[in-house]
Amino acid sequence: MTRRCFIAGNWKMNKSVAESLVLVRELRNAISVVRDRVEVAIAPPFTALHPVSKALEDSNISLAAQNCHAAESGAFTGEIGAPMLKELGVSYVILGHSERRQLFGETDAGVNRKTAAVLKAGMLPIICVGETLDEREASRTLAVVETQLKGCLGGFGAAEGAKFVIAYEPVWAIGTGKTATSRQAQEVHAHIRSLLTGLWGADTAQQVRIQYGGSVKADNAAELLSQPDIDGALVGGASLKAADFAAIVKAKA
Ligand code: 13P
Repeated sequence: MTRRCFIAGNWKMNKSVAESLVLVRELRNAISVVRDRVEVAIAPPFTALHPVSKALEDSNISLAAQNCHAAESGAFTGEIGAPMLKELGVSYVILGHSERRQLFGETDAGVNRKTAAVLKAGMLPIICVGETLDEREASRTLAVVETQLKGCLGGFGAAEGAKFVIAYEPVWAIGTGKTATSRQAQEVHAHIRSLLTGLWGADTAQQVRIQYGGSVKADNAAELLSQPDIDGALVGGASLKAADFAAIVKAKA
């Protein structure tokens, strides 16, 4: 089973509309030649989704959002429903990012509900899991990831699951410049795939793409992406500069 490599840029709370459009123009130029072998997505802030969606027309770069609410609409001041994102041309929604878990009280049960909303609206989830430094040092990494995955994925069958993207993002590696070694990352990715095998069977588990995230840069991407169960990257800081992001995309191509 060959899984198409999937590199996604999570812009977090960065870039005005004007800055976003400049970055998109630069990205379209920088990655035009490798786009068939690698799937590329970018997740700008909500405020830039609509103009970026227009700027991505006729490109092979997909649009992703960074969060959504589990309800379609209603009295949820300040929130955004999945159908609203779909209307803007969004294909993927990042769910359960560690910043949302740590800073905004996101739970596995919440991610589970949001995943259902994303699917119902016709989009696909990128579900983030990962351990803190304390948990790694206490040798709890695999157990933590297992609990998160089971909580996020419960109730979904193999047909839906095959299209999910999982992102393993060790919290201690996010924005710190400390990357997991390719061996450390591969160990967790292989564990995730074996958990998916238990949930949905081997055929489906082999189709699910598992991204690594946490200080991915041009100089460590090739090594990480060469691992058998690392099928892409979820890139934060290095996705904010076209040349840096393009170099990561090209690391696999
Ligand atoms: P950095 O690449 O800045 O470490 O961020 C990773 C991340 O959180 C992507 O979602």
